[in-house]
Amino acid sequence: MLNKMNLWKNQNNSSSLRDRIHQIKDHEVPSHVAIIMDGNGRWAKKRALPRVAGHHEGMKVVRKITKLASELGVKTLTVYAFSTENWKRPKMEVDFLMKLPEEFLGTFLPELIEENVRVEMIGYMDKLPEHTRRAVSKAMEDTKGNTGLILNFALNYGSRAEILDGVKRVLADVESGIMKEDELTEEVFSSYLMTKELNDPDLLIRTSGEIRLSNFMLWQLAYSEFWFTDVLWPDFNEEHFVEAIEAFQGRQRRFGGV
Ligand code: FPP
Repeated sequence: MLNKMNLWKNQNNSSSLRDRIHQIKDHEVPSHVAIIMDGNGRWAKKRALPRVAGHHEGMKVVRKITKLASELGVKTLTVYAFSTENWKRPKMEVDFLMKLPEEFLGTFLPELIEENVRVEMIGYMDKLPEHTRRAVSKAMEDTKGNTGLILNFALNYGSRAEILDGVKRVLADVESGIMKEDELTEEVFSSYLMTKELNDPDLLIRTSGEIRLSNFMLWQLAYSEFWFTDVLWPDFNEEHFVEAIEAFQGRQRRFGGV
């Protein structure tokens, strides 16, 4: 029924964004949406701008999508802002990316607080520059009592390192007798990961036409629905997010069953 409805919408293109948002809310909204925000550099290049201009524009899109996700009733929005591999980029670009959380939170934190958003982070915080750490820690502290959407920044995050660290801590706990080897289940192992407080993503979005995971939430995305678009992240807007959720709502999730 829902697929037919979406088809009708696509053919007639007559449903306004507001109507579509309204309809989405009548169905199961993904509880956790994770986004690989790709294409900032290409967006800038197309406009003969420096790559960092694309990151700056991308930052504004995070705000826009957070607002909509919150309105739709998404519980967690994880955004891949910097990977453990991104340190390989030119220093000037890395420095710029490390200043973005400060700018983002400096500008939007009051709005996020007003909207009951809680800021969280996964990734290796101790290796971030002091000013980045300070901005993120302050936002986490200021929003810790909020009960609405969790805006989870993956910052200096890498999934293989996360899994390996989890394995090492499991081994240490088994060795010291805190845990018996046969007590290690998938659920218990999940609690050794940086996402221990979060449900696994229901939906993964990647922009810019790249079809890969790039070391993002490899364990957590095992049963997620994937949605890819050619749209570059700075061009990503509410309609695209709505389109992704509509696609999700048209999928049948079987989790290995029939
Ligand atoms: C990948 O695009 C994007 C990143 C490595 C950075 C993403 C960061 C943002 C969108 C801003 C983060 C916002 C906050 C609030 C911290 P790319 O540069 O690899 O694009 P390309 O493949 O076109 O070169």
